Amino acid sequence: MQEISSKSPEESQVTTRYIVMPDHANHYGTAFGGVIMSWIDMVAAMVAQRHCGMESVTASVDRLTFITPINVGDHVVLKGSVNFTGKSSMEIGVQVTKEDPYNNKVVRATTAYLTFVALDANKRPCQVPKLIPQSIDEIRRFENAKLRIESMRDLSKKLKLKKEVFS
Ligand SMILES: CC(C)(COP(=O)(O)OP(=O)(O)OC[C@H]1O[C@@H](n2cnc3c(N)ncnc32)[C@H](O)[C@@H]1OP(=O)(O)O)[C@@H](O)C(=O)NCCC(=O)NCCS
Repeated sequence: MQEISSKSPEESQVTTRYIVMPDHANHYGTAFGGVIMSWIDMVAAMVAQRHCGMESVTASVDRLTFITPINVGDHVVLKGSVNFTGKSSMEIGVQVTKEDPYNNKVVRATTAYLTFVALDANKRPCQVPKLIPQSIDEIRRFENAKLRIESMRDLSKKLKLKKEVFS
């Protein structure tokens, strides 16, 4: 029988930073949401690849909340880690904070949860290492991810039933 390896969230976490330049801005002079979303997707992809060591694709963006606008010139710090693993899927959480470089004020700007799926050489979903959360924060994220996944499955079932009623 094939042995399934395991990993902690710490082993694959990624932190990266950008500076918001004028070409990242929208017509209101703050960072364009689509640019932040692409940075989030890139960080989440790196986390997924580091966790499973395989090609990983974005299956869904499950939740993305813009908490506060980010200004041109702000430093943007993105921290990503695996919150939960299924068989071939991984929920990745990305926290985005903005830092004013002149007063070091740090504010949470955006949070996102994405699902990635690992693919084998034939581009078929394949088993990922089991996630073993270690710290209190990692366990909290793991439990919260489980709740999100259960509630998404519940919503899908309800929407499917509604579709049948209306068809
Ligand atoms: C994601 C993808 C590989 C899933 O393929 P599939 O044949 O539907 O896979 P399966 O039904 O066997 O499901 C495999 C896993 O993906 C998960 N999954 C599939 N579709 C999903 C979705 N829309 N949202 C969240 N998870 C999803 C399943 O829950 C399952 O998880 P598990 O193995 O942990 O139980 C496929 O839909 C795909 O290639 N999508 C395009 C990806 C892409 O181009 N992304 C953008 C560029 S990276």
